[in-house]
Amino acid sequence: MNIFKKSLDKVKPYVPGKPIEEVKRALGLGEVYKLASNEVPFPPSYIRKAINDEIKNINRYPEASCFYLRKELARQLGVSDNQIVFGNGSDELISLALRSIIEDGDEVIIAQPTFLIYEIQAIACNAEIKRVPLKNFCYDLNAMAEAVTKKTKIIFIANPDNPTGTYLNHKQVGVFLSKIPKNILLFFDEAYFEFAPGDFPQTKKFLKNRGNIIFSRTFSKIYGLAGLRLGYAITSVEIAEGLDKIREPFNINRFAQVAALAGIKDKSFIKKVLPYIKKEKEYFYREMDKLGLVYVKSATNFIFVNFKQDTLKLNDYLLKNGVIIRELTGWGLKNCFRVTVGLRKENKKFIGCLKNYLKQ
Ligand SMILES: Cc1ncc(COP(=O)(O)O)c(C=O)c1O
Repeated sequence: MNIFKKSLDKVKPYVPGKPIEEVKRALGLGEVYKLASNEVPFPPSYIRKAINDEIKNINRYPEASCFYLRKELARQLGVSDNQIVFGNGSDELISLALRSIIEDGDEVIIAQPTFLIYEIQAIACNAEIKRVPLKNFCYDLNAMAEAVTKKTKIIFIANPDNPTGTYLNHKQVGVFLSKIPKNILLFFDEAYFEFAPGDFPQTKKFLKNRGNIIFSRTFSKIYGLAGLRLGYAITSVEIAEGLDKIREPFNINRFAQVAALAGIKDKSFIKKVLPYIKKEKEYFYREMDKLGLVYVKSATNFIFVNFKQDTLKLNDYLLKNGVIIRELTGWGLKNCFRVTVGLRKENKKFIGCLKNYLKQ
């Protein structure tokens, strides 16, 4: 007997990138390189002292307000403490926004394809989804503005976008905002904003002009803390209060709180990651050019490749050779894949395998 809400019939479950351990076990491989989930390739050492010092408190619930992290983050961002909401990953902020706003039949506008969680969570909230196709692998903001109706409640914008890696600049976002009625919540998912170029939107300027706006960010990417799960929303005081009403009180564990605080105080990790990723992206571009592959220039730590042939076979071939990438059939893109920028030896191995595959 199916006891679930009818809307769940429409949900295609999210299939995460395979963990390294699982692939090693399943294929009996000694070494496996994961270039599938847009993590940074090195573990951060800045967290060690903070994590060790926190072990002695582990029998106690964490602080529900993330007091010290909140204070420092608000200070660095130049917003007030009560304009921040923390989530168990920025994924949780997406579902908090939907659960606190959407009523049956309300409309949510998303791009197609884009990050899959918007659609899954919106369907679970009984929203009507309006999908606006990308144009040249970029968000088509004119078409998104035209898709607005009286029933529209939230518009999700992944900026930079996943899986394409393209981004919208300050001017483009400004023009778009001027067209969107103020009662609609604009949710800008900025999971990769640290990797983006200088003309990226200036959050604070837009925050001042519009109450109904959320900028969500994460410690999973540039800070190297994907395993701890921590994201944050920067928004208006009113929206923050609304989301907080339904947030689980202890959603951010003790280790995540102290590690993130250490990360924002000590920026040395970011200073190491950014140039590394930039250099390795150039390496990928050069090698892909040599192979005649069509890719999209990326404002993130991953690259979208229009392979123009079935990627499931390529995916299998790479797996057998110990390299995990992201084939994109789940996004309806069976001839495209996404590869995360890894360590040089990992990237080299991937390119080597790709060459051998294309020679076959
Ligand atoms: C666009 C986008 N938003 C959000 C997330 C989720 O991030 P978090 O780990 O903070 O939940 C990802 C993760 O890959 C992403 O690509």
